[in-house]
Amino acid sequence: MTRFQTLADKYDTPLYLYDFDYMREQYNKLKEAFRAKKSLICYAVKANSNLSVIKHFGDLGAGCDCVSIGEIKRALTAGVKNYKIIFSGVGKKDEEIKEALQKDILLINLESEAELARVEEQAKLLDKEARISIRVNPNIDPQTHPYISTGLHENKFGVDLDTAKRMYIKAKNSNFLDPVGIHFHIGSQLTQLEPIKEASEVVSDLVRSLKVLKIDIKFFDIGGGLGIQYDDETLIKPYDYAQAIFSTLHGLDVTIMCEPGRYLSANSGYFLTKVLYEKVNGEKRFVIVDGGMNDLIRPSLYNAYHKIEILGKDADEETSDCDVVGPVCESGDFFAKNIALPFTQHDDLLVIKSAGAYCATMSSNYNTRGRVAEVAIDSQSDRLIRRRENFEDMIALEKDYLKD
Ligand code: LLP
Repeated sequence: MTRFQTLADKYDTPLYLYDFDYMREQYNKLKEAFRAKKSLICYAVKANSNLSVIKHFGDLGAGCDCVSIGEIKRALTAGVKNYKIIFSGVGKKDEEIKEALQKDILLINLESEAELARVEEQAKLLDKEARISIRVNPNIDPQTHPYISTGLHENKFGVDLDTAKRMYIKAKNSNFLDPVGIHFHIGSQLTQLEPIKEASEVVSDLVRSLKVLKIDIKFFDIGGGLGIQYDDETLIKPYDYAQAIFSTLHGLDVTIMCEPGRYLSANSGYFLTKVLYEKVNGEKRFVIVDGGMNDLIRPSLYNAYHKIEILGKDADEETSDCDVVGPVCESGDFFAKNIALPFTQHDDLLVIKSAGAYCATMSSNYNTRGRVAEVAIDSQSDRLIRRRENFEDMIALEKDYLKD
């Protein structure tokens, strides 16, 4: 715990810290679980797209799951090989498709018939054959938060089974498309194995029926979504996850791909923020800290729970209920509501946990607050992997346009 204090003193707050040892352990656990078959873990860059984080996973052997040309370029800049990069997402611009084809990445993942036509057109213009996969929406309830559920027909993602089959036949008959992959992703923060297994069964049945049509699927992408411990969740064990997938693949010789984000990075991360002061409005106690919803928006956006600890307080200290809030001018700017904390003083350090996924990547400059610094730690050392944004950074894209 004193290490947090040292790092807060060294780099200032608010601050993101990522434990690179933890990330490595998570990656290795998952890779090991799939050992019995060919597999490629494509880290979902959206979870934490810091270049050094991507490079860390790339060095371990991971590929990348990207959802914009920007993420693809991040992955390439971090040294990930083009043949390990896949491009997903429900809406891609022609220029993005073109650039992805020029960069010769492993797969473009299609999410509609209209998208198939656009990718075919771009491939034709470049006189290339685009390797594609199709995202199937298996219409299965993943039993997670509605905002991060994606595998039901009411969600915008993927295509139904009949449409997918039609698209595969179209792609097979095209000179510019090579249908080599299939994909599903039913949601995020999944803690139930059964819906994943059910989805895998439905999708592998489709792969078998495509085989009959001489459409040979080589990459079976099971998406991401493995849940993590924010609070007291019961988790899916990587071994059980892999076995459940294996059990659906009879008669198929495929490379299993998966796209975890949160599982690999969330619990490596800590958000450090200092107490500015306390106040009481009527009966209500507030602890006001220097980090805000612009830095870490998950509690405001999803009512998500992130465990909070205060450094240097004894467990037996007297507590009272309070809201932990930031300086942003929104009532929704909070990290926790009605939690029991001891009385705090100016400069006390709070550690907000599970902050390695969907935290820094979802941050903004709202209220002209600079994005915070990010630091990598491992057992031996610490190093800055993103410097704190300053005022000049924030106005750089506007100041040249200021009129007299
Ligand atoms: N693959 C696809 C196609 C995805 O849409 C996602 C996440 C992933 C993989 C990675 O999912 P993960 O393994 O990290 O659960 N901002 C939300 C999460 C949005 C997830 C979007 N898609 C949050 O803070 O919880």
